[in-house]
Amino acid sequence: MIECYREFLPISPAMPIISLGEGNTPLIHSPRLSERVGRGCEVFVKNEGVNPTGSFKDRGMTLAVSKAAERGTTALICASTGNTSASAAAYAARAGISCIVILPAGKIATGKVLQAFVYGAKIVAIDGNFDDALRIVRELGETGDFTIVNSINPDRIAGQKTAAFEIVDELGDAPDFHLLPVGNAGNITAYWAGYREYRKGDRSTKLPAMIGFQAMNAAPIFHRRIIGNPETIASAIRIGNPANWKQAQAALIESRGAIDIISDESILAAQKWLAQQEGIFVEPASAASIAGLFKWCDSADAAHSFQNIRKGSRIVCTVTGHGLKDPDVIIGRMTEFEPIAATVMDVRRAIER
Ligand code: F0G
Repeated sequence: MIECYREFLPISPAMPIISLGEGNTPLIHSPRLSERVGRGCEVFVKNEGVNPTGSFKDRGMTLAVSKAAERGTTALICASTGNTSASAAAYAARAGISCIVILPAGKIATGKVLQAFVYGAKIVAIDGNFDDALRIVRELGETGDFTIVNSINPDRIAGQKTAAFEIVDELGDAPDFHLLPVGNAGNITAYWAGYREYRKGDRSTKLPAMIGFQAMNAAPIFHRRIIGNPETIASAIRIGNPANWKQAQAALIESRGAIDIISDESILAAQKWLAQQEGIFVEPASAASIAGLFKWCDSADAAHSFQNIRKGSRIVCTVTGHGLKDPDVIIGRMTEFEPIAATVMDVRRAIER
């Protein structure tokens, strides 16, 4: 990915590139979502779940870890709701650098802890939430013993903006609207930086409105106040005091975008819909952009709505992480499968039942 967009990235020719083949993710046209919006609009899903560690974090991590390796860093550190830690651990392993991850105990999806563990990171679970973990990481970073690879590291944002480049390259122009989940607000900051940079370089003729979605009980930007006890089933975006709050606010204002909230129920419904209607399995946080799209299509009286959208508008929804990372809710819903006799007759009967 770095090689692809070298001219747009803050790198020296000598920098070692620590890559696992991230980026170049599919931009999937969705006829069903397009129909839902109506007015000849086209909806595309940017599936970031197919990155090497299953989330968009890999785009920022390849650059942050490459730069850290160039500087001779010996240890990375991050706070995480799960995906950043999985990605940091993998790229650290690849670079031969050690990695420490600080996680809110009991609030990380199973697959993500498993990833940090298998890539060999030192895992420290705290009795606190993501915001507490990030506060600790910031302090530890100041000692100079560690390189912080959260999105407060500008290299993370610079790497992640390449997702916007890919979208413009593929569509031939920027979309009219870009929808995505918002947690620590690094990604919305990165996309907006990418779109602006491409516009400035005349690679696009317009800029999208950036539309962010937060979970109803973890929505500090929407409510304009720090949330002390954020709660949501979408644990990846369970954040009450986003580090990139100011930058996200600027993106929302400059792009004439908006921030909105969605319920946990609507997130789970959108996750199921996307899997069963489009064959795209995402984690709950990622389904926030789809839940948000439905909200904007359905509620005529919402503060914002797609009901009077310009005909033929193009909408991109980023889905940020793979569904297999967070199987717990779904496993809870699955029924036991009673085995039957291994004969064609029994199997046929079971199919017809
Ligand atoms: N979706 C997923 C799957 C995430 O893991 C995150 C953030 C977001 C959306 C929100 O992105 O923070 O840039 O606004 N996960 C971070 C982590 C906080 O630690 O993995 P954001």
